[in-house]
Amino acid sequence: MTDPAVTYASYLNIDELLTLQQPRSQGPEHDELLFIVIHQVYELWFKELLHEFDRVRQLLDAGKPHRAQHTLKRILTILKVMVAQLDILETMTPLEFLSFRERLEAASGFQSDQFRQIEFLLGVKSQAALHRFPEESRARVALERRYQEPTVWDAFLRYLSKEGYAVPPSHLDRDVVAGIEPSAEVQRILVSVYRDDTKNAELCERLVDLDEGIQEWRYRHVKMVERTIGAKSGTGGSAGAAYLQQTVGRPLFPDLWQIRSQL
Ligand code: HEM
Repeated sequence: MTDPAVTYASYLNIDELLTLQQPRSQGPEHDELLFIVIHQVYELWFKELLHEFDRVRQLLDAGKPHRAQHTLKRILTILKVMVAQLDILETMTPLEFLSFRERLEAASGFQSDQFRQIEFLLGVKSQAALHRFPEESRARVALERRYQEPTVWDAFLRYLSKEGYAVPPSHLDRDVVAGIEPSAEVQRILVSVYRDDTKNAELCERLVDLDEGIQEWRYRHVKMVERTIGAKSGTGGSAGAAYLQQTVGRPLFPDLWQIRSQL
């Protein structure tokens, strides 16, 4: 017997995919399907972003800045779609959300391990975020691996060093678990990149776009939270919007922002 021909449904596992949206409210409440679909779509985009970020690091390590930029462009386009998607959820009024909110119990985007993996890749690492997941679970194993990996910023500094810039060894061998702190030495290098090295200045600009894009998502998410639940605490146990506000406006790559006033 030959294998059955590949079809749209078999290739994409459509039957299985369509069974994965399981509302918990009685009825079920009309808006719960939208809430589930949006979150699942986000998780798929997170998966794709992780795939592309791995590629960016590899391309930087291989000294291929144009291809790294091309991949960053794709990441930025996905981020734009991710931010725009929040508009759809904002069509849900506070009362529509309340109609099923209690059925979420303690579930929250706060527990998205793929979101934490993206943060880890971009240098926002935390042991606490790791320990929220049971040992040996898929999420924990993935996060432990990402915790130990160099960040996109580390790959960028290594790339600059290979391009002939005098990145201090203390930065090239830094503990990749530590946060990304501003550095006067790196800033001096970046200023000269911006002044004299168009190719690498373009790459820097894509990293600024990325940093701004993540901040944009955080800002839009907190605004959506404010308009949907006001000052109520989150299902994930945090103070809600007040907690989220603290994460808005924190740059991922502070050096790239600080040099603006030196140019
Ligand atoms: C009505 C819609 C939404 C509301 C009211 C909401 C509310 C919240 C709240 C209150 C938090 C803080 C943690 C906690 O739960 O205590 C949070 C965190 C989070 N939410 Fe949402 N959210 C919504 C939609 C979404 C969507 C569509 C996503 C997409 C995946 C998402 C992803 C996240 C993430 C990743 C965090 C963690 C942020 C961080 O720790 O920096 N949320 N959300």
